[in-house]
Amino acid sequence: MDAQKTVWVTGASSGLGLHTAMALRADGWRVIAGARSFGQDNGEQDGILRLPLDVTDEESVRAFCRKAAETALPDALVQCAGMLVLGSCEETLTDEYRRVIDTNYLGMVRMNREVIPLMRRRNGGKIVLFSSINGLLGIPFQSAYTASKHAVEGYAECLKIEVRPYGIQVMLVEPGDHRSGSDKYRPHAVAMNADSPYAEAYESAVARIHHDETNGSDPDVLGRKIARTLDRKRIPFRKRIASTDQHLAVYVHRFLGARVNAGILERYYIRKKKKA
Ligand SMILES: NC(=O)c1ccc[n+]([C@@H]2O[C@H](COP(=O)([O-])OP(=O)(O)OC[C@H]3O[C@@H](n4cnc5c(N)ncnc54)[C@H](OP(=O)(O)O)[C@@H]3O)[C@@H](O)[C@H]2O)c1
Repeated sequence: MDAQKTVWVTGASSGLGLHTAMALRADGWRVIAGARSFGQDNGEQDGILRLPLDVTDEESVRAFCRKAAETALPDALVQCAGMLVLGSCEETLTDEYRRVIDTNYLGMVRMNREVIPLMRRRNGGKIVLFSSINGLLGIPFQSAYTASKHAVEGYAECLKIEVRPYGIQVMLVEPGDHRSGSDKYRPHAVAMNADSPYAEAYESAVARIHHDETNGSDPDVLGRKIARTLDRKRIPFRKRIASTDQHLAVYVHRFLGARVNAGILERYYIRKKKKA
């Protein structure tokens, strides 16, 4: 029998997905990675099998799972594929919301629909879903992303209960800011230009968001933490990997009420320009 454990990782071409895939590989897992930028001929690199995957496309998800299963069935699935669109609630288009939710939330649903039967038949498996601190509280001008990650949080609570009898465990990873994300996956909503009524507040919030990510936590450390956790027999339902400030923000949101929370976040993200 094959003693090496296998993990399938989505969104593994960059950022936290790539760092997690590399940490799992270093820990001895057989890693099968999926992303759109892995073409048909990408094959194996650094001991990781790379297969094309677009989580917004049912046929691509099925093809990835078929191809990956030819190599090895998953003991674990780690879902990192994600993107966001920055913009005000008023001006972000329905299609822009749809794109974010289709990738971040429905992408996970599509993958799980293929992978759960494989795990159920083998009486076990671990499913890791990348949420975010934004899955727990709302950040201005990130409403599409925040909504998608809140959907992931609610979905995971249902999933955990349903699959437990089949020996399948579910874990939500809730990262705070990490210096890994690429601007490529953070486009501005098309309406966010100088004519927007939100232009000044938006500029301030985007500068803050950019600053926090650039100075964020080390993605290698996150990758290693997930690899260590996945090695355990029992994994926690929630794993928050964030700075002290961000842990505190979640605490404030939960215990101090909506008014205090909104006031703190508004002051933090939206700085008024001093009048000349
Ligand atoms: N970075 C942070 O500070 C942070 C904080 C909290 C949560 N997170 C979460 O962590 C995960 C990774 O984010 P990141 O910022 O580290 O990475 P990133 O650099 O933004 O990379 C995003 C990854 O998702 C893949 N992807 C995007 N759309 C896809 C699609 N339709 N199908 C398949 N793959 C797709 C991209 O690959 P291709 O373009 O090759 O498909 C890429 O590998 C996301 O779920 C994000 O929400 C990140």
